[in-house]
Amino acid sequence: MAIDYQERIPNNVDLSEDRRLQRALEAWQPNYLQWWQEMGPTEFQAHNVYLRTAVSVDSKGWANFGHVKMPDYRWGIFLAEPEQDRKVNFGEHKGEAAWQDVPGEYRGMLRRLIVTQGDTEPASVEQQRQLGLTAPSLYDLRNLFQVNVEEGRHLWAMVYLLHGYFGRDGREEADAMLQRHSGDVDKPRILGAFNEKTPDWLSFYMFTYFTDRDGKYQLASLAESGFDPLSRTCRFMLTEEAHHMFVGETGVGRVIQRACELTNEHGEDAVRKMGGIDLPTVQKYLNFHFSVSLDLFGSERSTNAANFFSMGLKGRFEETKIDDDHKLGNDIYPILELDGEKFVTREDNALTVINERLRDEYAIDCGRGVRRWNQIIKRHGINFELKLPHRAFNRQIGSFNQANTGGLQVSPDGEVIAEAAWTENHGNWLPTEADRAFVIGLMQPITEPGKYAAWIAPPARGINNQPIDFEYVRLN
Ligand SMILES: [Fe+2]
Ligand SMILES: [Fe+2]
Repeated sequence: MAIDYQERIPNNVDLSEDRRLQRALEAWQPNYLQWWQEMGPTEFQAHNVYLRTAVSVDSKGWANFGHVKMPDYRWGIFLAEPEQDRKVNFGEHKGEAAWQDVPGEYRGMLRRLIVTQGDTEPASVEQQRQLGLTAPSLYDLRNLFQVNVEEGRHLWAMVYLLHGYFGRDGREEADAMLQRHSGDVDKPRILGAFNEKTPDWLSFYMFTYFTDRDGKYQLASLAESGFDPLSRTCRFMLTEEAHHMFVGETGVGRVIQRACELTNEHGEDAVRKMGGIDLPTVQKYLNFHFSVSLDLFGSERSTNAANFFSMGLKGRFEETKIDDDHKLGNDIYPILELDGEKFVTREDNALTVINERLRDEYAIDCGRGVRRWNQIIKRHGINFELKLPHRAFNRQIGSFNQANTGGLQVSPDGEVIAEAAWTENHGNWLPTEADRAFVIGLMQPITEPGKYAAWIAPPARGINNQPIDFEYVRLN
């Protein structure tokens, strides 16, 4: 299904066949553009950026690259191809034909899932809006903007579902997406992690590595949905998400590489003095972003999550590849808990702890990139190993929240400690004010093609086979 770019709203869903929906979305479009101008990237709206745009939704060659001004980016509605005779593949409705319309009894639950996912998309654009002012290169500036326009498109994806399938309350929810803002005291974004600023580029790379990866796991679970339009929407969003995680993994990798080069040239203690970010600081940022991203998976035990599964609305990661009955009525799943000061593994009903399973899969995936980062360090002959912190470290949501542990805390190594030990040591584990001030102090814009800030190595290769000194953003 080709994408129709003649239309005011590019789409591959035959939007012109549904006048009511088309009119509703065309009425939302100017509000979206106004939001983009006010809450999207500061400055650079008038500059040409080397962006990719979807041209078709099949796996090869969906992208077209060219210089575009961001407000002219062709945001639209792209769904993956329908699967013939697709079924509901899990839960109580397993085996029934997949739903092409919202099942009436699940309307409220489904809307809530879509709104929660949709809200994170514009939130991240808002969180990152100042970063363009301090980009370490034109290459990185372009990558930031690519991520931003695609998060904007992800909002379009969810708004299409709200407008197309939920009538009046869907339209109201779509409007509210543009009224809540990240960090707004009166109307904040729905999830806590999306109300924090992304204050510097190390945080941006960590965010795209860890938090966009949460997005990947949420989208992959929604791609299993028995509600077919949601499934198809999420399947195409996942192809865009891969690039965001690439930006994160290579960004952190390049920071590490520069730290290693400076260590070998000037000694371990000179990295900061020479304008680099030392590996212990990288570890602290990693600890922070991994732990807050773990929280995004919700409580270990969740009736809502169990219901979403049983109703056939949100599956497990790669549901159809799992070898079981896909109903989980009698299945068990192990979860880690604190029993006093000791960790114990308990078995619980697999449905009740379905969040925990997704969190486990996410954590394994996170570990893969950390191993590749450690290879960079090894290649430089440096004796330092980055580690994911223990899953109970610095958690705010679920059973490891201090309110639920009787005041106990957990160190990155998984040692259960009292509050006093936490107070004494947390500055070694999480970025301190001084660490953050140091990193922010390094953030100076580099705007000459082919030049890179001193704290980050150039990328191994450019975007779309362009050289690394290509003019990814035309500033004049
Ligand atoms: Fe997204
Ligand atoms: Fe993303």
